[in-house]
Amino acid sequence: MRDGGAPEQPRVGGQGAPAPGFPLQSRVLEESPEEVFAMRTELCEKLGIDLPVFAFTHCRDVVAAVSKAGGFGVLGAVGFTAEQLEIELDWIDEHVGDHGYGVDIVIPGKYEGMDEIDPARLEAQLRAAIPEQHRSFASKLLSDAGVPEMPAEDKHHELLGWTAATAAPQVECALRHERVKLIANALGTPPEDVIEQVHEAGRLVAALCGSPRQALKHTEAGVDIVIAQGTEGGGHTGEVGSLVLWPQVISAVAPTPVLAAGGIGSGQQIAAALAVGAAGVWTGSLWLAVEEAEAPPAQRQSYFDATSRDTVRSRSFTGKPCRMLKNEWTQAWEREDAPDPLGMPLQGMVTMDAVQRTHRYADAAQKVAFNPVGQVVGMIDHVESVRQVMQRLSEEYLSAVDRLEGLQPS
Ligand SMILES: Cc1cc2nc3c(=O)[nH]c(=O)nc-3n(C[C@H](O)[C@H](O)[C@H](O)COP(=O)(O)O)c2cc1C
Repeated sequence: MRDGGAPEQPRVGGQGAPAPGFPLQSRVLEESPEEVFAMRTELCEKLGIDLPVFAFTHCRDVVAAVSKAGGFGVLGAVGFTAEQLEIELDWIDEHVGDHGYGVDIVIPGKYEGMDEIDPARLEAQLRAAIPEQHRSFASKLLSDAGVPEMPAEDKHHELLGWTAATAAPQVECALRHERVKLIANALGTPPEDVIEQVHEAGRLVAALCGSPRQALKHTEAGVDIVIAQGTEGGGHTGEVGSLVLWPQVISAVAPTPVLAAGGIGSGQQIAAALAVGAAGVWTGSLWLAVEEAEAPPAQRQSYFDATSRDTVRSRSFTGKPCRMLKNEWTQAWEREDAPDPLGMPLQGMVTMDAVQRTHRYADAAQKVAFNPVGQVVGMIDHVESVRQVMQRLSEEYLSAVDRLEGLQPS
């Protein structure tokens, strides 16, 4: 699981058997069709899905399983080269049946080297701008923690897909796959030409935001779906809490559909999001430790052991505030003798080695590992399959709606 992290190798087989189709079983199946689909919003019709549950993940198995279970899986592309992404998307196409899914790219509104559009020249220019002090500080943290070196042949290149130059080939690749129905962008309004390109291909564009102002910039640029992420969310995140942010964004951009993100781990919370007017929910942390996810056991355990107080917004891995588990690494970058983290994408280039090594040697490395996750981690304490999560969400949602109905005077 990597926010900006590198996949070690493109996986060809993948874990987790393809999930069987997802009839909403047990209690949910016994409900009348109106109740089963009480969660259905206009966006469900538009995307041909049963439940407005969007799942951001870096694992193709999770993408396919969520879409097959009636939701909408979205593959985070930032850690993949276009060639690797092609392999992942081919695999999803083979395993997702006739369902659609999305691809998430990262083109920040502001980053170092924005004017350079050639990926190789950009990487060379950026490498030259990294002070040695940052590299040696990061490297000492890893060696002091006893994290083994990465074999040279397995080292990932340092500049990930988080620039316009590196994201462009990912978008082209995604649009060649007809089941890709949505391209989402993190960290800023997607550039005009990207929005045009996606629309010309007949797909939808979504973008994450942490404020009504940013949401309005998205809709003015032609974004079709706004994702409002409260501060409690995992990965890059702003400062305003979900329940305060969602209604502000919803009213700022109405009638554009808004997905509520940040802190969702249960069906009751989905009911709350739909109650304030969201068109669905966009989730991330929830899928980090599912059966189908590719997560080292030690990392999974770190998530299970953590409470909602154990995360921090830190610039120490990517250069922008990103919510992750607190540990010796995040604390070290706060020390007085620590260099100030660089901007994006420079800091990510400094820490690529750490992301890779702490993932490969997860057992030895948890105290300095990159474990991006939201505060909802405190609600995640055991392995469930994607299908079980989707079923639980549906059942909890229905029980929340029942409870509210029970409050009506008879
Ligand atoms: C491990 C991890 C990595 C993430 N990486 C990205 C990313 O590359 N692009 C993106 O748009 N959002 C990313 N996010 C944010 C998610 O898309 C989503 O908005 C967030 O997880 C929602 O909050 P939650 O974690 O409380 O469900 C990431 C989240 C996590 C947990």
